[in-house]
Amino acid sequence: MIRVEGLTKDYGLRRAIEDLTFDAQKGEILGFLGPNGAGKTTTMRILTGYMPPTSGTAQVAGFDVVDQSLEVRRRVGYMPETVPLYPDMTVFDYLKFMADLRQVANAEDRVDELLERLGLLDRAESYIANLSKGMRQRVGLAQALVHSPEVLILDEPTIGLDPAQIIEVRNLIKELGKDHTILLSTHILSEAQQVCNRVMIINRGRIVAEDTPERLQDRLTGSRRVSVQVGGDGDGLASVVASVPGVARLTEKEDGRLEFETVPGMDPRAEVARAIIQAGYDLLEMRPYGVSLEEIFLQLTRDEPTPPQPAEEEMLDESMSDMKDLNLKS
Ligand SMILES: Nc1ncnc2c1ncn2[C@@H]1O[C@H](COP(=O)(O)OP(=O)(O)O)[C@@H](O)[C@H]1O
Ligand SMILES: [Mg+2]
Repeated sequence: MIRVEGLTKDYGLRRAIEDLTFDAQKGEILGFLGPNGAGKTTTMRILTGYMPPTSGTAQVAGFDVVDQSLEVRRRVGYMPETVPLYPDMTVFDYLKFMADLRQVANAEDRVDELLERLGLLDRAESYIANLSKGMRQRVGLAQALVHSPEVLILDEPTIGLDPAQIIEVRNLIKELGKDHTILLSTHILSEAQQVCNRVMIINRGRIVAEDTPERLQDRLTGSRRVSVQVGGDGDGLASVVASVPGVARLTEKEDGRLEFETVPGMDPRAEVARAIIQAGYDLLEMRPYGVSLEEIFLQLTRDEPTPPQPAEEEMLDESMSDMKDLNLKS
């Protein structure tokens, strides 16, 4: 269980995350989707008890990340962006070492169990230095799981993997999601859609959208909203437009306009225009309206990763009050 309310973190004057509120339940894989610099790692570090927030609260597995950080760390498995692996240790020795650090009972049995579960049995005696990136990610996952945590926090777990390894790691995570609460960050839209039960889109430190992947997908893969206007009274126009394949959710507006959404992946606009004209109407206007999530996401991923500058207004106020002071003095 993860519960976050109003979480904000400033690095000096730079605000990395602002007023994040969300929760995640057991058996849920919550995706944290956003471009580089959006604030994913910052949030995850706070949730693992490694760094306090500037304001706001977070509970993980029922404990407060600031006041009860030891309890939190006992119940959270964390796979950081770069897992600190010891290259001159074997896989088995490294995991045994991590298990001992975590004071895991029957450490050797637990390590064997993890090697089996993560498909690492035949690598047990390999040196970490000699492992492929995909195998290292598995070892990273294994160390996050070594103390049987309730909650898993995985920071871009598939970064740097080849396509086959990505599929393997994703399947592994889906499997783990059945009996854990997982927060997974990624900057890849399709990954969030494939792996997660629910996705939050974060940009510049703020959550800008949150939905199930199905609904996000509907809106993200090209469903658009179109507004149509014809001359005259437009009687019967709705049935003409509705009969075009790819048109969904048609509404007639009071001012005589017609609005519709397109079926994801289809673009019926040219066909709609032809149908309207062939039916004898004068087509005056056909235009997109509203901002789709696809547009939001494109904007997200195109943006330079400059986070919001919280200090901007304050600095402005400060400098203005400075000036006032100067004025008063002069
Ligand atoms: N230790 C730090 N000191 C100062 N600024 C930081 C630090 N870590 C991250 N930032 C800034 O905070 C913002 C969010 O970063 P981060 O949480 O790493 O984003 P993400 O993981 O989504 O790429 C970025 O603008 C980044 O430059
Ligand atoms: Mg990051």
